[in-house]
Amino acid sequence: MKGIMTLVLVLLVVLSFGRSSECRNVKVLDQYSSKYSAMSCREHTASITDFGGVGDGTTSNTKAFQAAINHLAEIAADGSGAQLFVPPGKWLTGSFNLTSHFTLFLHKDAVLLASQDENDYPLLMPLPSYGRGRDGKEKDAIVGRYSSLIFGTNLTDVIVTGENGTIDGQGALWWKKYKKGQLKYTRPYLIEIMHSNQVQISDITLLDSPSWNVHPVYSSNVIIKGLTIIAPTDPVSPNTDGINPDSCSNVLIEDCYIVSGDDCVAVKSGWDEFGIAYAMPTQHLTIRRLTCISPDSAVIALGSEMSGGIQDVRAEDITAIHSESGIRIKTAVGRGGFVKDIFVRRMTMQTMKWAFWMTGNYGSHADDHYDPKALPVIQGISYSDMVAENVTMAARLEGIDGDPFTGICISNVTIGMAAKAKKVPWTCTDVSGGTNGVSPSPCDSLPGQAKTCPFPTEALPIESVELKACSLSVPARKS
Ligand SMILES: *[C@@H]1O[C@H](CO)[C@@H](O)[C@H](O)[C@H]1NC(C)=O
Ligand SMILES: *[C@@H]1O[C@H](CO)[C@@H](O)[C@H](O)[C@H]1NC(C)=O
Ligand SMILES: *[C@@H]1O[C@H](CO)[C@@H](O)[C@H](O)[C@H]1NC(C)=O
Ligand SMILES: *[C@@H]1O[C@H](CO)[C@@H](O)[C@H](O)[C@H]1NC(C)=O
Ligand SMILES: *[C@@H]1O[C@H](CO)[C@@H](O)[C@H](O)[C@H]1NC(C)=O
Repeated sequence: MKGIMTLVLVLLVVLSFGRSSECRNVKVLDQYSSKYSAMSCREHTASITDFGGVGDGTTSNTKAFQAAINHLAEIAADGSGAQLFVPPGKWLTGSFNLTSHFTLFLHKDAVLLASQDENDYPLLMPLPSYGRGRDGKEKDAIVGRYSSLIFGTNLTDVIVTGENGTIDGQGALWWKKYKKGQLKYTRPYLIEIMHSNQVQISDITLLDSPSWNVHPVYSSNVIIKGLTIIAPTDPVSPNTDGINPDSCSNVLIEDCYIVSGDDCVAVKSGWDEFGIAYAMPTQHLTIRRLTCISPDSAVIALGSEMSGGIQDVRAEDITAIHSESGIRIKTAVGRGGFVKDIFVRRMTMQTMKWAFWMTGNYGSHADDHYDPKALPVIQGISYSDMVAENVTMAARLEGIDGDPFTGICISNVTIGMAAKAKKVPWTCTDVSGGTNGVSPSPCDSLPGQAKTCPFPTEALPIESVELKACSLSVPARKS
């Protein structure tokens, strides 16, 4: 045993002498290989260090990332695809753009550190379905918003994944500036993918985003899975929504753990007259096995920007802990659009203010030009097979006068009220529907009925996409 150890030691010494005499000051990086599952595998592989990247936490890697991706875009253009490996280290970077047939792969000990310098985020036009950014004064908000840290538009087949490697938004400075009104433009998100098809964002950890974390918009065939999203809870980190599918179709969100200062998942589709004109709904969305802690917001919110419509959302096996509300519909006069065919089942809630909340007077308009005759249609909302504990109010359901929310169905839901619960557990105005096996006893506008609530039996196409077993292999190399 001792003999072998000595031999190994001698070998190591000889090897390292050999290296340092051969090329002084040159670090030899370990070779690395890994397996992961993805919608598509890639033929070509490069490391950020091949493009001058330095993972010391202080060197800016914005140019290295963009150079790497531009280079790989050419190689991958024939569809063979390319993947960019980010090794262990702290990689400070500003915004960079992804490309098609491309995978960004983070090693488990890789941390992308988001620059806190506004100049590292190019200005983009406001989203057409929003007409303006959400932060900043109107005159600025209508001309620009900061690009997300990781941005992609008009892409096909793009993946951001890893071994739970980290993207650290370093949001504290942004939150402070936002609260002091010192920001001219809307804060960057961590990941925004726009006008794209076949998108996968999986197995990464997102920390302290300046604002929303993951924003797929105007995209279809999107898989988001295995994300851990963490930000301090409100009021420290304003608007740090977890995942915001926005005017997207055929989307699967699964196995995510989210603790944040705003809604864990917020389903959206544009704002007032801009969203109505753009008319692109979010539809065919499955959310499953989500665990959420959101003390001041919702586990799943629909809206408030829903002017392009939201239809066919299925959520199941959801765990809510210490959250303000379980499922919340937010809308207002002037939004137009619709929220239809929403199905939620098997949700477990522990310590909630409201299990169910619907708000018809959310307000918060893009500008003063919204159409007061544009009334949202809220119809066909089904909640079933749920247990909640330590709840302050079972439900607060507020439709719109002259525009009631209809077809609300709640079945097999048991809500355990908190010791200090409100005396009246349900308040309902301008809503209609029915209930079956619900306690405490619901309001009169949701009378008992014989039938239980529906849930679609056919899976969405995105749920049957089989991920492939991909591998990534980086040879030993010098830097
Ligand atoms: C990314 O693409 C957008 C839209 O094409 C562009 O405006 C922006 O400048 C690009 N960002 C970078 C860092 O090149
Ligand atoms: C991106 O796609 C959108 C929607 O199809 C289109 O309007 C826009 O012109 C495209 N942009 C680019 C740069 O190709
Ligand atoms: C990533 O995190 C999830 C959840 O904590 C864990 O189940 C999984 O094993 C982790 N994967 C890797 C490669 O570390
Ligand atoms: C019940 O909720 C209250 C807050 O409303 C919290 O302080 C308390 O710890 C919770 N109790 C349990 C048993 O979870
Ligand atoms: C009612 O919901 C609970 C909790 O999800 C579930 O365990 C139970 O099977 C449901 N009952 C029926 C009759 O579906």
